[in-house]
Amino acid sequence: MKIACTVNGRARTVDGAWEGESLLSVLRDRMQLPGSKNACEQGECGSCSVYMDGVLVCACLVLGGQANDRTIVTIEGLATGTALHAVQQAFVEAGAVQCGFCTPGLVVATHDLLARFPEPSVMQIREALAGNICRCTGYAKIIDAVQLAARRIAVDEHSAR
Ligand code: FES
Ligand code: FES
Repeated sequence: MKIACTVNGRARTVDGAWEGESLLSVLRDRMQLPGSKNACEQGECGSCSVYMDGVLVCACLVLGGQANDRTIVTIEGLATGTALHAVQQAFVEAGAVQCGFCTPGLVVATHDLLARFPEPSVMQIREALAGNICRCTGYAKIIDAVQLAARRIAVDEHSAR
């Protein structure tokens, strides 16, 4: 089947996807966007989190065909050229990345959280990231990273006024 959608600001078309193929597979295997990770393929870990029409989804639970005519943003779409997004930079600086397998999903989920709650409490952070499983960090550094990103974004927005 043919899928035409916008991915990270670019019109993309894929031909030959099979009807049951997930959006995650389309992104990784057909569009050469390997940032979204495939850890469980059943909606349990959040490592495949992307935006579809501005809504956070697990790309492994979305059929590729459902992305037709939709707008997708993946972890690759958050950076500006070679400049990391503030959330990505904060994860690096806070030491929230170990094996890194969970990181793309956590970064996209954090980006979504901070768009809704610019100054989230620890409970709000824990709740927002509850669907993102990390096997390495113990989560403390991840919470540090979210708080660091929130502070950086607030400073950037203040100086842009
Ligand atoms: S790979 Fe999609 S939720 Fe785990
Ligand atoms: S850093 Fe390894 S799973 Fe999170």
